[in-house]
Amino acid sequence: MKGLIGILLATVLGTSQPVRGAQAPEATGLAFAVPPPTSNGGQAWKDSHSRALKLLAEMTLQEKISMVTGQRGPCAANSESIERLGIPRMCFQDGPAGVRPALGHTQFPSGITTAATWDVELIYNRSVALAQEFYDMGVHIALGMTTGGPLGRSPYGGRNWEGWYADPYGTGVASFYGTKGFIDVGMQSCAKHYTVYEQETFRNPFNFTEPYSVYKASEQVPISSNVDDKTNHEVYLWSFAEAVRAGTTHVMCAYNSINGTHACANSESNNLHLKGELNFQGALISDWGGTWGTEGFVMGGLDLNLPGLGYGNILGNFYDQELYQMVLNGTIPESRLDDMVVRVLVPLFASGQYDKPIPSTVINSVGAANWPEPAQYRNVQKRSTVELIRKISADGTILLKNTGGLPLKAPKNIAIIGQDAGPNLLGIQGCGKLFRDCDIWNNNGTLSLGGGSGYAWPNNLITPLEAIQAKALETQALVQFVLNNTATNAIDLTITGRALPMGQPDVCLVFAERYVRENMDRNDLSLNIGEWTHSEDIILQTAAKCNNTIVVLHIPGPVIMEAWIDNPNITAVVAPLLPGEQTGPGLVDVLWGHVSPSAKLPFTIAKAEKDYPPNTISYDISVTPQADFTEKLKIDYRWFDSYNITPRFEFGFGLSYSTFAYSEIKSDPTEVPDSTSVQKTNESFVGQQDGQSIYDMVLTITAEITNTGRWTAAEVVQLYVSFPTAENQPPNVLRGFTKLKNMKPDETRTASFPIRRKDVMVWDVVVQKWRYPAEQTVTFRVGSSSRKLPLSLTHRFCH
Ligand SMILES: *[C@@H]1O[C@H](CO)[C@@H](O)[C@H](O)[C@H]1NC(C)=O
Ligand SMILES: *[C@@H]1O[C@H](CO)[C@@H](O)[C@H](O)[C@H]1NC(C)=O
Ligand SMILES: *[C@@H]1O[C@H](CO)[C@@H](O)[C@H](O)[C@H]1NC(C)=O
Ligand SMILES: *[C@@H]1O[C@H](CO)[C@@H](O)[C@H](O)[C@H]1NC(C)=O
Ligand SMILES: *[C@@H]1O[C@H](CO)[C@@H](O)[C@H](O)[C@H]1NC(C)=O
Ligand SMILES: *[C@@H]1O[C@H](CO)[C@@H](O)[C@H](O)[C@H]1NC(C)=O
Ligand SMILES: *[C@@H]1O[C@H](CO)[C@@H](O)[C@H](O)[C@H]1NC(C)=O
Ligand SMILES: *[C@@H]1O[C@H](CO)[C@@H](O)[C@H](O)[C@H]1NC(C)=O
Ligand SMILES: *[C@@H]1O[C@H](CO)[C@@H](O)[C@H](O)[C@H]1NC(C)=O
Repeated sequence: MKGLIGILLATVLGTSQPVRGAQAPEATGLAFAVPPPTSNGGQAWKDSHSRALKLLAEMTLQEKISMVTGQRGPCAANSESIERLGIPRMCFQDGPAGVRPALGHTQFPSGITTAATWDVELIYNRSVALAQEFYDMGVHIALGMTTGGPLGRSPYGGRNWEGWYADPYGTGVASFYGTKGFIDVGMQSCAKHYTVYEQETFRNPFNFTEPYSVYKASEQVPISSNVDDKTNHEVYLWSFAEAVRAGTTHVMCAYNSINGTHACANSESNNLHLKGELNFQGALISDWGGTWGTEGFVMGGLDLNLPGLGYGNILGNFYDQELYQMVLNGTIPESRLDDMVVRVLVPLFASGQYDKPIPSTVINSVGAANWPEPAQYRNVQKRSTVELIRKISADGTILLKNTGGLPLKAPKNIAIIGQDAGPNLLGIQGCGKLFRDCDIWNNNGTLSLGGGSGYAWPNNLITPLEAIQAKALETQALVQFVLNNTATNAIDLTITGRALPMGQPDVCLVFAERYVRENMDRNDLSLNIGEWTHSEDIILQTAAKCNNTIVVLHIPGPVIMEAWIDNPNITAVVAPLLPGEQTGPGLVDVLWGHVSPSAKLPFTIAKAEKDYPPNTISYDISVTPQADFTEKLKIDYRWFDSYNITPRFEFGFGLSYSTFAYSEIKSDPTEVPDSTSVQKTNESFVGQQDGQSIYDMVLTITAEITNTGRWTAAEVVQLYVSFPTAENQPPNVLRGFTKLKNMKPDETRTASFPIRRKDVMVWDVVVQKWRYPAEQTVTFRVGSSSRKLPLSLTHRFCH
C-alpha cells in the first residue's frame, strides 16, 4: 500500500485540488468489455460460499454497501462489522517483511534475500512465521505477499526487493509456497500488486502528488503498462496464477493502468484473466488510491474499495453512497454487489476466522481516528522465528567472489569499515522518520530492509558489527571499526595499521549499501549516491591498501561493480541483500564458515547499465504517461542470453565453499495428476481432455550431483527449458529448481524436477489457450546457474 500517506498528509495532499471522480480520459473503452464473473467458491471454498450466501440473505442494502467500502478503524484498512450476523470488523495491514506500522514483531528478511536461498522450505516456513505474527497481533488480512507486482522487469524498480525472482517461474514457486504458508495458519492472504506494476515513477494514486510530479494530484493519470497478451500470460500473470492456486483469499490491484485502463477497473485483466482464467474466488481489493471512480471499477472487477472511508476519505469518496444510489437506480445490478459481498465473506469463513475469532488487534495505524496515539503493545516474536530468520539470512547470503578470503581463518586483527556495519544512531525509526522513508542520501546504520510500506521495524536488530565483535571473542581478536564513510583519514589509519604496533589487519571487512524505497525508482545502479553513502569510495579506498579486503553488499537489486570487482586485493564478496533483523548473526555464520554459502542470485548483475533492456522505467512526462513493454519475454537473464551479452554475474549464480559435479540427466515420462492446487484454475490448453489439468505432472527430469569439495554444503540445482526456435522464446527459461542440502564431501544425490504441462507450453494468442510447441519437442538443461548448464536432454511430447 501507500507508505507515505501518513507522513505527507499534511504537507502534500493539502495543496491539491483534484476533480472528484476524475477518470483517466482513456479509461473507458475496455472497462465494460468483459463482465465480472460470479463466484462459486471453487473447489476449496464451496461450504464457505454457501455460508456466505446465507449471511448475505440477512443483509440490508446499506450493510452490503458498507461491506465493500473500507470503514474507519485502527488498521490500514478496516471492513465493516455487523454484530448481529457475527461478522467482525476485519483488519487489513502491511506488509511483506513484517507487520507495519507496529512494534513487538520481527523484521523478516526481504523477499529477495529469501528468494536467494532457493529453498522452498524456508520460503514456506518464513510465511508461516510471518503469518503467525500477523495473527497474534490481531490482523485478519495480511497484505504480505508480493507475488509478481513488481516482478523485476527493471533493475531500477523501487520495490523489487519486496518480491522474489526476476523471473515468472521462480516468483511463481515463491508465490505458491509463500501464499500456502499464510493460508495454512489461518491467515487471509493478499497477492499483490495486480498487475504489470513494474515502476514507481508516475504510479500516481488518486488525489496524491508524488514528490517528483510536475502535475497536480490526479491531473496526470497513472503510468500505463502496455503489454501484449503473450507476454502478460507467460511473464506477468504466471506468478499470480500460482498464488491463486495456493488459495490466496485476496488480490490487490495496482496503481498503474494497463493498456490505458486503471488496473483496478481493467475488465480484461480482472474479469477475463483473474476471475475467469485463474478462477479466483476471493476478493479483489484496491491499493490505497488505486480506485478513481465507482461504476467502472465495480464493473471492472474491483470488489472492495480500500481504505474507503479510512483516512477521512482523502483517497476518493468512491463506492459507499454513490454505489448505493447506483444499485437503487439500476446502474449497477444488485447481483454484482451481492457477489462483491460474498467475495469478502468467503475468505472469512474459509480461513476459520469467522468460527474462531482472532486475538484483539494491537494495531493503531496511520489514519486511524486516534492516530498518533500509541497502540497497545504486544510482543509476538518467538525464539524459533529468530532462529529461522538467522538461517534465512545465512542461506540467503550470496558468495559472488572468493579468491581465498573466505571462510575466515581465525583472524587476530579485524578491521570493519562502513556505516552499513553499525547501528542507527538515530534510533529505531530509521532516519528519524516513520517507515524509514529516509531521503536517499541519509542512510543511517546497517541497511537491513528497503523503505516504504514494505519496511517493518525490527524487534531487536543485531548489526554486523555487534555479531562480529561477539564472534571475535573466540579468537581474542582485535576489532577496529570506522563507521563514518567520509572519515578518510580514520579509514586509512585503520586499514594500514600505520602508527600502530600491531600492523595491518588480517582482514578488512567493508560494508557497502544501496538504499531504495517504495515511491521512487533508482536513478542509477551505483553504490555512491548523493552526499552521504560513499559506499563505492570506501571499497576503493580499502582495497587500495588492504590486500585481504572482503566486501559485504546490502543491496536491493543489481549494482555495477566494475570499478573494483577484479581488484586482486578483494579476496571475497558476499551479498546478503536485505536480510532483516538477524543480519549480523546470519553474516557471521557465512564469514566464519559455520555454514557454507549456498545462495544464488535472483537477478542478473550486469557489467554496465546499458546492458539491461532499455527504458524499463518510463519518464514520459505527459498527462497520460506510457510504458511500453517492448522487451516482451526478455526480462533480466533472458535479455542477456538473447543478445549474447556477458553479465558480471548471471541469474542463478552463487559460489559455495565446496564444489559440485553434474552428471546423468534422465527423464521419466510417468504422469501424475495435479494434487497440489488448493483452488483449481480454469487455465486451459489445446487438446485438453476431461479431468486433465495444466498443472498435472507430465514428466520428471533427474540429474546426479556430487559434492566434489571438502565442505558439507548445499547446492541449488536449476533446470531451464529451451523451446524450438520457431517459438521465438528466449534461449533458456527457468522451469525448475531444487536445493540439495547438507551434502557431505563425495556424496552423490539425485536432483529431481517435476515438469508440469504448463512448464513446457506457450500461450497461443489466437486460440487463447496454452499449447505444446508446434514441433512438440523441448530441451531441458540442468546446471548450477542460468549460464552453467552442462547437462541437456531433448524430449518429444506425444499427445
Ligand atoms: C484530497 O485530499 C484532501 C486532503 O489532503 C481532502 O481534503 C480532499 O477532500 C481530497 N479530495 C478528494 C476528491 O477526495
Ligand atoms: C521448516 O519448519 C519445519 C517445522 O517447524 C521444520 O521441521 C523444518 O526443519 C523447517 N525447515 C527449514 C529448512 O528450516
Ligand atoms: C493490452 O493490449 C495488448 C495489445 O492490444 C493486448 O494484446 C493485451 O491483451 C491487452 N492486455 C490487457 C490486460 O488489456
Ligand atoms: C473456463 O474456461 C473455459 C474454456 O476456456 C471457458 O469456456 C469458461 O467460460 C471458463 N470459465 C470461466 C469462469 O471463465
Ligand atoms: C444513478 O445514480 C448515480 C449516482 O448517484 C448517478 O450518477 C446516475 O446518473 C444515476 N443514473 C440514473 C439512470 O438515474
Ligand atoms: C543520518 O541521517 C541524518 C538525516 O536523516 C543525517 O543528517 C545524518 O548525517 C545521517 N548520519 C548520521 C551518522 O547520523
Ligand atoms: C565524518 O567524518 C567527516 C570527515 O572527518 C566529518 O566531517 C564528519 O563530521 C563526520 N561525521 C560524523 C557524523 O561524525
Ligand atoms: C593491494 O594492496 C597492497 C597493500 O597490501 C597495495 O600495495 C597494492 O597497491 C594493492 N593493489 C591494488 C590493485 O589495489
Ligand atoms: C598482504 O599484506 C601483508 C602485510 O602487509 C603481507 O604480510 C602479505 O604477504 C600480503 N599478502 C599477499 C597475498 O600479498
